[in-house]
Amino acid sequence: MNKLIVSLLLTLGVTGGVNAADKIVGDATAGQAKTAVCGACHNPDGNSLAPNFPKLAGQGERYLIKQLNDIKSGKRTVLEMTGMLTSLNDQDFADIAAYFSSQKNSVGAADPKLVEAGRALFNGGDLSKGLPACTGCHSPNGAGLAAAGFPHLGGQHAQYITKQLTDFREGDRTNDGDATTMRTIASKLSNKDIQALASYIQGLH
Ligand code: HEC
Ligand code: HEC
Repeated sequence: MNKLIVSLLLTLGVTGGVNAADKIVGDATAGQAKTAVCGACHNPDGNSLAPNFPKLAGQGERYLIKQLNDIKSGKRTVLEMTGMLTSLNDQDFADIAAYFSSQKNSVGAADPKLVEAGRALFNGGDLSKGLPACTGCHSPNGAGLAAAGFPHLGGQHAQYITKQLTDFREGDRTNDGDATTMRTIASKLSNKDIQALASYIQGLH
């Protein structure tokens, strides 16, 4: 993504402000020791096997730390993780994020019947609906932009992606900031669009 878009998004506050937690440096080795409980669902290396549990391997540190804070504070509801983050502090979150970020993420396969529709939407958006291309923030290969907190999507489970896009659309996930970037984008997606995008993302690398 070009610098102009990044600075625009920073101005809009999409990526959140700089706070004290941003200055803490994560230690991946220390982080691994703090993830024993997480492995049951996310797998020890962060490549979860169950399609409803998100893969964390290779995810950007800034995005991971933000989600951990949002889940801990209840800004994002994850019932399965209730109470698990209560005793963890900013240093723990930085260490855990450094660990999962350093792991190589695994990629799945796209449904051949959906791949063309998914690719077209992901790369080109839909002008008639005012839908922007996903690539502007999540990049053409789905790697995202770690420094800006734009999440890595490539290889993520289609079932998980489908749930997130539906939750953004229905207002069940609201932690995308005051600019409501993902809620606005998801409001333009039909169920069929979401299915095609999720399948394409699962095979993207
Ligand atoms: C009992 C299963 C379970 C355990 C154990 C668990 N999680 Fe999760 N986690 C989930 C589920 C389910 C979601 C996604 C919920 C949803 O659909 O929004 C999630 C979401 C996340 C996310 C957001 C991912 C994203 O792409 O936005 C992060 C980060 C995360 N978990 C980290 C952890 C860490 C760190 C631990 C250990 C301290 C942990 N989880 C333990 C089930 C679990
Ligand atoms: C203007 C930038 C921007 C564009 C364009 C954009 N996104 Fe996002 N997306 C974000 C940001 C920022 C987040 C993280 C929100 C948060 O902090 O919770 C996000 C989060 C997501 C997530 C949740 C990831 C996870 O692990 O839970 C999905 C799925 C997603 N976007 C899909 C898409 C798709 C599909 C498109 C295209 C139709 C798209 N995005 C277009 C900025 C963007």
